[in-house]
Amino acid sequence: MLPSDLVKYKEKNQKIIALTAWDSISGSIAEQSNVDLVLVGDSLAMVCLGYQSTLPLTLENIIYHTNAVSRGFKKRFEEQPLIVSDMPFLTYQCGEDKAVEYAGRIIQSTYAKAVKVEGAEPEIQKVISRIIRMGIPVMGHLGLTPQSYLNLGFKKQGESIESQERIKREACKLEKLGCFAIVLEHIPDLLAKEIQNTLSIPTIGIGAGKYCDGQVRVTADLLGLNDDQPPFCPPIIQGKNLLKDKLKQWVESERLN
Ligand code: KIV
Repeated sequence: MLPSDLVKYKEKNQKIIALTAWDSISGSIAEQSNVDLVLVGDSLAMVCLGYQSTLPLTLENIIYHTNAVSRGFKKRFEEQPLIVSDMPFLTYQCGEDKAVEYAGRIIQSTYAKAVKVEGAEPEIQKVISRIIRMGIPVMGHLGLTPQSYLNLGFKKQGESIESQERIKREACKLEKLGCFAIVLEHIPDLLAKEIQNTLSIPTIGIGAGKYCDGQVRVTADLLGLNDDQPPFCPPIIQGKNLLKDKLKQWVESERLN
């Protein structure tokens, strides 16, 4: 599947389902769950590498982890989910030339077929436009953009009319620039619905309600593997407690042997 194929899902009213992955085990689990898209998101900095934010993640980290994820895939190549890799902090904020080079490095050294870029400020729009014109598909990301948490906080966006108008304008701009899809993170459901209705490219939501064209979740959050769960991503199992209890039982039983 190519990134541009995702628009057909929207045209057919078929939901796009995506999970994040960060290593070959999570990649394998995501693939075997039959998702359409695997995002090697920079959230791996927090859910896998123990950082407090996504900012410390480097280009080398994302390449290393994207390759680990694709090594976990077992289906025939044509049936594998589409891999999208995040562009880490400082790989696209320092100008168009660097951004094209770094996006190119990700595409050249991994099986990712697209990159994801957060935000839509005028400087970022230029960067996105150049990356796309150089032949690399870009997924946008609006709303809560964790790489900007020092300015915006880790909180819901689009609460004020002004902020809603800005997010809508930015979504339209990203479509015009040629993004093939947009992640909408932690914004009001009705704002996501309006954007979904306005755009012809798919919106993929996380904490943005049910009206988006697809849903993405951070797999570790969904499985309850983290100590700090974002309020907008309730776990489907208490994975950490479950695994911990089973392992404790095993440790105890081995001690008695
Ligand atoms: O890094 C990530 O996992 C993401 C998702 C929250 C969409 O960007």
